[in-house]
Amino acid sequence: MTTLVGFSSKYGATEGIAERIARKLREAGQDAVARPVKSVDQVDEYDSFVFGSSAYMGSWRKDATAFVRRHQDLIKAHPVWLFSSGPLGTAGKDTQGRDLRKESEPKQFEEFGQMLQPRGMQVFFGALDPNVLSRRDKLVRRIPSGRELLPEGDFRNWAAIDEWAAEIARELSA
Ligand SMILES: Cc1cc2nc3c(=O)[nH]c(=O)nc-3n(C[C@H](O)[C@H](O)[C@H](O)COP(=O)(O)O)c2cc1C
Repeated sequence: MTTLVGFSSKYGATEGIAERIARKLREAGQDAVARPVKSVDQVDEYDSFVFGSSAYMGSWRKDATAFVRRHQDLIKAHPVWLFSSGPLGTAGKDTQGRDLRKESEPKQFEEFGQMLQPRGMQVFFGALDPNVLSRRDKLVRRIPSGRELLPEGDFRNWAAIDEWAAEIARELSA
């Protein structure tokens, strides 16, 4: 029984989350590997799935979205969980008092929620290093609302990630 933690990560933040989830699953006695979705050929080698991508402009990255759509029939026949990495900063709420993680759900959560009936869907805080951004992403950050919404730093909440991985491990061993 092997779990694939398939991810798409532009600058490494989501990769770190995926690797952590796979490691926590292994520590809990599960067989699990983290792989970028673009390097996965044989989906039928796996018995359960965790998929995650970073969110850009409200959306999962294209390769993760395309992968899930392409393999939906196989994926939905197995236990599946989804996560997204996105919101940045230390505030749990946006300026209007709304829950930042709820507001940062990528639009694919609705589509994939219906399509795959996942056992869980989570948004985790992400990380941003302005020095490594593409020119285009740097420009987005320069507009006033961009700067506010996209502060520099590593806001990944490892305790929350570990807790979620432990829940997955419990369900897999049940
Ligand atoms: C140009 C730009 C746009 C972003 N748009 C969003 C967004 O719409 N929603 C969100 O939650 N996070 C957004 N983020 C934050 C990233 O999703 C976050 O930094 C993430 O952890 C990056 O993960 P990665 O390094 O794996 O790609 C954006 C970041 C940048 C640089």
